[in-house]
Amino acid sequence: MKKRVFLSATALAVTALATSPVFAQDNTFKIGLILPMTGQQASTGRQVEAGVRLYMAQNGDMVAGKKVELIVKDDTSQPDVTKRLAQELVVNDKVNVLAGFGITPSALATAPIATQSRTPEIVMAAATSSITEASPYIVRSSFTLPQVSVVLADWAPKHGIKTVDTLVSDYGPGIDAEKYFRERLIANGGKVTESLRVPLRSPDFAPFLQKVRDDHPDALFVFVPSGAGAALMKQFVSRGMDKAGIKLIATGDVTDDDQLNDMGDGALGVVTSHHYSAAHPSETNKQFVAAFEKANKGMRPNFMAVGGYDGTHLIYDALKKTQGQGGGEALVAAMKGESFESPRGPIRIDPQTRDIVQNVYLRKVERVNGQFYNVEFDVVKDVKDPGKAPK
Ligand code: PHB
Repeated sequence: MKKRVFLSATALAVTALATSPVFAQDNTFKIGLILPMTGQQASTGRQVEAGVRLYMAQNGDMVAGKKVELIVKDDTSQPDVTKRLAQELVVNDKVNVLAGFGITPSALATAPIATQSRTPEIVMAAATSSITEASPYIVRSSFTLPQVSVVLADWAPKHGIKTVDTLVSDYGPGIDAEKYFRERLIANGGKVTESLRVPLRSPDFAPFLQKVRDDHPDALFVFVPSGAGAALMKQFVSRGMDKAGIKLIATGDVTDDDQLNDMGDGALGVVTSHHYSAAHPSETNKQFVAAFEKANKGMRPNFMAVGGYDGTHLIYDALKKTQGQGGGEALVAAMKGESFESPRGPIRIDPQTRDIVQNVYLRKVERVNGQFYNVEFDVVKDVKDPGKAPK
């Protein structure tokens, strides 16, 4: 008797599921995209979101029988806000994937939620090496600061640069850039004469640049996050550092494609290392840039846009590989070892570290058809994150 009641109750529940909106919801695949849409890092949010939306527009929102739904939240680049939003997205919206993360503290604040809820966390922007170690559910589509910094430290001493002051934003990615640039430069016979750190929020570069002027090294190596490069460049030039014979070298975050045209002639000739330039001369990139500009009122994509575009590509491929059935664990497993041709060149996800392996390019700022571009002149292929101990 009891058994029959139980059976009919189950049958009822199943019927209810099949006809109620709950069933329809089951057929959706939700991506919770958390980004800084306002505040100092807003250009990152704008670029990543546009990259995600372009990939979805080009590839449709039906994948392996699921309707992909994007939910965008603004964390104003405050990690406590990121964490709260991630929690709400997992618990209330039942997202299948968390993605975005404009700065390292936001990516790290979300890691315990990804682990506890077994939700993949696709880091599309933040770039401190250790992020992928904070949760087995993190996969990165951006880059790491050690990855690009060592390439510049190999180039510099071969081109007459022996003494260098470093100037970095005083948090995860800046500390990574400083450490890996310095170690590699010293290994190559160069010398770091001064290591300067500026605050992440509203930095005043003036006193630091004065110090560099007084030191007079061959070059100043800089990392500041995307969005802060133009201010640094203006102050570098207005203090006459370039005229005084101090070269500026930097990670590509500084000569950011999002701001490069506003940096003035002082930016011309600056050598940087990075994984993406809007001027990357592949057919895949030409099509990507044209489509991106068309969809975004002429806005030029930067490396953040490509992180969003490729991160969405990873999610789509994982959804296809798991035939729409995968939970968090299966999705992450499907992303491990994934490889494809990105607008930046060939990329793959290292199955051991879940971090990205990619080409790093040396570039010089040049005027091309009246606009400034980071023109690539050399490449180091298949660079793994040097921040991970070999496993
Ligand atoms: C970071 O916070 O990890 C970050 C932000 C912007 C960049 C690079 C790294 O351009």
